[in-house]
Amino acid sequence: MLRDKFNREVTYLRVSVTERCNFRCRYCMAEKPFNWVPKENLLSYEELFAFIKISIDNGIRKIRLTGGEPTTRENLDELVYMIHTYAPEVDIGLTTNGYLLPSLAHKLKKAGLRRVNISLDSLDRTTMHYIAQKDVFTQVQEGIRAAVDAGLLVKINSVILRGINDHEIVPLFIYAKEIGAQIRYIEYMENSHASNALQGLRSDEVIDILGKSYPFIPINKEVSGPANLYETLDGYHFGTIEPHRHDFCTTCDRLRLTAEGDLIGCLYFEGAKSIKDAIRDGNSKKAAEILEDVVINKPEKNFWGIENIEVSSRAFYRTGG
Ligand code: 5AD
Ligand code: SF4
Repeated sequence: MLRDKFNREVTYLRVSVTERCNFRCRYCMAEKPFNWVPKENLLSYEELFAFIKISIDNGIRKIRLTGGEPTTRENLDELVYMIHTYAPEVDIGLTTNGYLLPSLAHKLKKAGLRRVNISLDSLDRTTMHYIAQKDVFTQVQEGIRAAVDAGLLVKINSVILRGINDHEIVPLFIYAKEIGAQIRYIEYMENSHASNALQGLRSDEVIDILGKSYPFIPINKEVSGPANLYETLDGYHFGTIEPHRHDFCTTCDRLRLTAEGDLIGCLYFEGAKSIKDAIRDGNSKKAAEILEDVVINKPEKNFWGIENIEVSSRAFYRTGG
């Protein structure tokens, strides 16, 4: 079992399989990075799987594949299949922009994928184009439909930005509810890779706007997971993710692995340890020690809650959101 200094049990590993992305969302990767990590520095699926096995053996029960855009790496279903075959009880999820799901959703489900969180910030083609800096609307809609049809458990992630999509809080809610997907409004996290001058709405503003259209009540914070959950009168659940809240980190149960093999205890912090050499040397004992070390040194809190908002220089597309 993996337990940190603040008595939080770590059971969730997010694995970024690539930092590359086919979108350029203004809040994440506003411009093409100056250079990508060279391919030879990336861990192969076999190497990622070798570390995932060690983490499962040490108590990880939930794995999420992220990026960049994870579906841009070829044959992602092979990695899903390896994990699922090794430990069928492990809950495997994927976070994606949905663009490549029309052709991949069924394959991934068949390989053992259970959940998919799809980013959707707008129901308007022009606004989607503006945010992602690409005309993606139709294909993302098809991707969402393919995921639902494949029987994956779908959640919708929306980042609400002032003056850009803040008039779509209610339409996005209605859309998600209709397709049977939980929507989570994620507060924009300031970072130096985003476009300048973006301003996110805080969750209380989002909740106020929704409250004018729908009666709902707060229910408990997710047992494992960052969202604050709400329930409508007809039993639909939705959530907000509020990294700026002072108690956001108290239930954090997760670690992140980058595509290059850096293991990170907190999305915001710079401290990371590489498991690449240990894995490439076939030294499982060493890799397990690094895992334990990163868990023990997992920081108590991020910094977004601090009054004068600090801007993280860590790229979300590198650490997997
Ligand atoms: N703030 C909040 N959420 C972000 N994401 C990416 N960058 C940011 C940011 N700066 C989210 C996207 C997507 C997931 C991959 O991470 O909305 O749902
Ligand atoms: Fe790509 Fe997701 Fe970042 Fe958008 S938020 S640029 S889709 S990684």
